[in-house]
Amino acid sequence: MRIQFAWGATRFVILVGTVAIKIARPRPFRALRRLIKYQMSGEVRARLLTFAEDPFLAGFSYIFSGILANRNEYRLWRESPRQFLVPTLYSFGWLVNVQSRGESISREELEADHPFRTLLVGKPLKFTGDMMKAAYFCRYEGRECLLDYASYVMLAFFSRPQSHDVTLVDVARN
Ligand SMILES: Nc1ncnc2c1ncn2[C@@H]1O[C@H](COP(=O)(O)OP(=O)(O)O)[C@@H](O)[C@H]1O
Ligand SMILES: [Mg+2]
Repeated sequence: MRIQFAWGATRFVILVGTVAIKIARPRPFRALRRLIKYQMSGEVRARLLTFAEDPFLAGFSYIFSGILANRNEYRLWRESPRQFLVPTLYSFGWLVNVQSRGESISREELEADHPFRTLLVGKPLKFTGDMMKAAYFCRYEGRECLLDYASYVMLAFFSRPQSHDVTLVDVARN
């Protein structure tokens, strides 16, 4: 069985068999480098506020953003599964997530057959820009699907109002 490894922004990924194992990785050194950089430019407070109002919480969120990413991804899939999301099968305390594995796709393939282009109309440029990057997508069960849906922006964007009518079996309809 061929095992592959990949680095994401906040997680280390082991691709084995039919699954992708996403391991949250802490980022203390990157946090320290950024702290020094923003200390020099006098932007520490402003930057921290983009994560949380409490500076301690903001630092915590930055260092442990892999855990928060796993939490968001697992939660979004459980609460608002959609056909264009790769299923997140398990989460072990948000430290390790197990997702179905897809195959990488090129930018051209994504542009030719984007799974939710119409949803992006009128949305902020930063978000639509990310949603046109092939690294966020893969081919899963013949469809182009989002594999990295871990950010708070995505959680807000793709979450549906909760309803007991919406269950995992309804996913094919969306
Ligand atoms: N379900 C998956 N199937 C195939 N490859 C994947 C899958 N999940 C992640 N990967 C690979 O791992 C990389 C990092 O995963 P990602 O979810 O983007 O982590 P991060 O949120 O830390 O950026 C992806 O760009 C992709 O190459
Ligand atoms: Mg990523």
